[in-house]
Amino acid sequence: MTSVVALANNREMPSAHPMDDIPVRRLKFSVEDIGPGDVLWSRTDPRFSAFLNGLGLHVPHFERYLCRALAKARPHITDARLGADVDAIIGQEAQHAKTFLKVNRALAARYPKAESFDTAAGEDFRRRAEVDDLRRAVGFTAGYETFTFLAGLIILDNHDRWFADAHPVMKAIWVWHQVEEVEHGAVAFEVWQHLYPGQEAYRRRMIVEALVHIAAETARAYWHMARVEGWIRGPLTAVREVGYCFGMLGRLLWRALPVFRKSYHPRRHPLVNHAQNPIQVAWRRYFLNEGDVLKLDHARMARMMGIADEASVHAA
Ligand SMILES: [Fe+2]
Ligand SMILES: [Fe+2]
Repeated sequence: MTSVVALANNREMPSAHPMDDIPVRRLKFSVEDIGPGDVLWSRTDPRFSAFLNGLGLHVPHFERYLCRALAKARPHITDARLGADVDAIIGQEAQHAKTFLKVNRALAARYPKAESFDTAAGEDFRRRAEVDDLRRAVGFTAGYETFTFLAGLIILDNHDRWFADAHPVMKAIWVWHQVEEVEHGAVAFEVWQHLYPGQEAYRRRMIVEALVHIAAETARAYWHMARVEGWIRGPLTAVREVGYCFGMLGRLLWRALPVFRKSYHPRRHPLVNHAQNPIQVAWRRYFLNEGDVLKLDHARMARMMGIADEASVHAA
């Protein structure tokens, strides 16, 4: 069994900037362990689980749209580093879509309308992928990725509030996803700037369109989930739930305001430079050193953060 000290002395370190040398990780989570009773996976804040479940329901279909849009853009990219990053984001998002489509099946076991929402989102994004020209496909993808990047930062920064006590597989899936959203958070933006430099008005329009789409999909799914959970019993509780959902979306919009500036670049965001999230840093290092990131229970989390030894992980 490896001690903390031995590991600390023998650690491979990930890149200092999370957006450099983006890896494609092929992780196989035990999604089949997530039963209908585990779907509200955050015991610390069950409402937040429903919000993120509601938001995440349509996201695998966007991720497949992203893969198609960036594959179409790939032959037009003349910068070798950006080309490699595009290959990496396509690899990461393909893995995300595969996992989250399985999560959707777990959601469907608890929420009667989840399957039809999932199917409708699939049809919508397949149609978009067929009709959207390259400029719109890359612009819409970059707009969407603004929010998955920001959500990645916000979610990791609120770990104690939302993840402190959570189902270990669902927690592992979301932490993995958010770490990778931060890692590739600049790629679609850079592809857009590479292919369509100076088209700021269109870029901003796509950010707004993406947010409206995310908000509509999330609100519809959250409303259904809140009803099934019995959180909506009359007008007052309905207002409370709508307020919660739009409050969370508003938070995302508030954090997104700097992206409308001409000088914005995700690579310069403080949270990927001098103010990096310690969980993100620890997760990337732990994975690189072959730590098991497929289930994040309390003991493994402590181990990953370097505050417990291997023995306590195996004892847990
Ligand atoms: Fe993703
Ligand atoms: Fe992404």
